[in-house]
Amino acid sequence: MAAARMLSARSALRLVALLLGVFAAGQCTEHVPLLMWTSDGFSLPSQSDPAAGHSVSMSELQSYLNTAFRSTPHNVLLFLQDKLSVDDFTKYAGVFGNKQGSAFPNLESTLQSSSSLLLPSVCSMVSSSLPMLLQDELNTSPLYMDPDMLAQLRLNASVPALLIFSLPYSSSGADMMSVKEVLSGNDEMIGQVLRIMGSQSVPYTAIYTALRPSRLMEEVIPDVHSVGARSLLQYRHEGSPAPYPPVEFKERGSACILLWAKNLTVSEYRSGRWERHNLSPKTFGEGVSPKLEGSFCNATHSRLVLNYEDILGYRSFKLIFVMSQRHYKVSARRWFTMDQVQLEYDRKTASFNGSRGIYAPAEYSYRCHSVTSFRYPLLTPRSAKDNANDWRISFDDFQIQGFNVTGKEFSYASDCAGFFTPGIWMGLLISALMVLLLTYGLHMIMQLHTMDRFDDPKGPAISVPQSE
Ligand SMILES: *[C@@H]1O[C@H](CO)[C@@H](O)[C@H](O)[C@H]1NC(C)=O
Ligand SMILES: *[C@@H]1O[C@H](CO)[C@@H](O)[C@H](O)[C@H]1NC(C)=O
Ligand SMILES: *[C@@H]1O[C@H](CO)[C@@H](O)[C@H](O)[C@H]1NC(C)=O
Ligand SMILES: *[C@@H]1O[C@H](CO)[C@@H](O)[C@H](O)[C@H]1NC(C)=O
Ligand SMILES: *[C@@H]1O[C@H](CO)[C@@H](O)[C@H](O)[C@H]1NC(C)=O
Repeated sequence: MAAARMLSARSALRLVALLLGVFAAGQCTEHVPLLMWTSDGFSLPSQSDPAAGHSVSMSELQSYLNTAFRSTPHNVLLFLQDKLSVDDFTKYAGVFGNKQGSAFPNLESTLQSSSSLLLPSVCSMVSSSLPMLLQDELNTSPLYMDPDMLAQLRLNASVPALLIFSLPYSSSGADMMSVKEVLSGNDEMIGQVLRIMGSQSVPYTAIYTALRPSRLMEEVIPDVHSVGARSLLQYRHEGSPAPYPPVEFKERGSACILLWAKNLTVSEYRSGRWERHNLSPKTFGEGVSPKLEGSFCNATHSRLVLNYEDILGYRSFKLIFVMSQRHYKVSARRWFTMDQVQLEYDRKTASFNGSRGIYAPAEYSYRCHSVTSFRYPLLTPRSAKDNANDWRISFDDFQIQGFNVTGKEFSYASDCAGFFTPGIWMGLLISALMVLLLTYGLHMIMQLHTMDRFDDPKGPAISVPQSE
């Protein structure tokens, strides 16, 4: 009976978790990233493609963990940071090949050698109940640890353990240096823990996430302003100022689109070879102001048209960026996407779709070290017959913002890759919804069944000794 009672207590917990999940799905306004990986020789179940703006709910995470723990070790390391946002990775992980400057060397090298999963957007309500979820999943109680305690602990691969490491995050987001130092310190601690696990040869499953996001949307804009002189454009060049300002399109006196790139190259296939032309000298720099006729922006759509003459033998040549933004209910946030890039040359049009690969929160800018139509393409010809099949376009160190531009500088940049490999970013989000819904439904039914078991009325009554 005790067992049955425990079972029903556990089921009740689960039901609460599920209900919270249902609640969270409607109430999810804060998001944190969640990174999961395993020690050598184990692999995590794969995930299908991300949907822009999707956040992982309680039931989705629970169902994923359920599947994952069938094949991954039950010695679980949970690194629970005070705060974290996915932007911390892009901001402090040394983008554009600046690996020396990374705050996450241990995490990066671990991820390269192991099976991993990144969920960029998990409801913070879900991540903060992760200790409870894991406790339920592993059927063991959590131990709050630090690396010194871990070194003294004898773990046994066949006995499940849930080890929780609390990591700090600097309280003020404005001071870039101190945040970076704290993150480096945390990364060092993660490295230390993994080395100890390695030396004990106990296989493990590790999760790195946070209780709350380090940046809320409302904080983003003041945050950018407080960075002040160190504008984010400068940040791109690791502290040295950008050599030239972005192209700026103004509507009714205020800037509404910004574009910056190191190289904007177009190539056309002619008699067996690609003829290249670099548009940057006519686009950016001192004394250069490209014509922007045909550009426009409103609250939901924006379009930047760069007009050129005499490019690759065409008298008029236009490079057009088409962007839109919309609200995604599930992430409670507006996202913008770059839907198309078009070339218009002497009355012909070539259109490339941005598919869904080029997107960022609407208040941010989008940045990518390379946007091309041929190498790991983010842009694909609109159809097999489109003129775009005769063209290649390639943008280096590309940054664009089509909405919520404040002043002459880009808002905070959402980077296309950060330090994660393209593979991780491709396979990153939970969206096998059909399976999830089915599992979820079954789960609910099973929970309801066990919940029917309350105390046994025929059993002996509980007696409380009354002596003294
Ligand atoms: C691990 O635990 C199992 C089951 O409790 C036990 O049989 C085994 O001896 C333990 N191994 C070590 C190395 O302690
Ligand atoms: C820009 O493109 C030119 C050729 O079009 C190339 O020589 C140069 O290396 C490129 N610069 C960068 C930074 O990729
Ligand atoms: C913005 O422009 C697009 C495209 O021209 C149009 O479909 C849309 O209705 C406009 N929205 C507003 C709010 O004006
Ligand atoms: C590109 O986008 C257009 C319109 O959004 C769509 O009709 C077309 O199927 C897309 N093409 C590809 C290859 O995705
Ligand atoms: C962004 O722009 C939209 C439409 O112009 C506006 O409704 C929204 O309040 C702006 N958001 C921020 C954070 O400025």
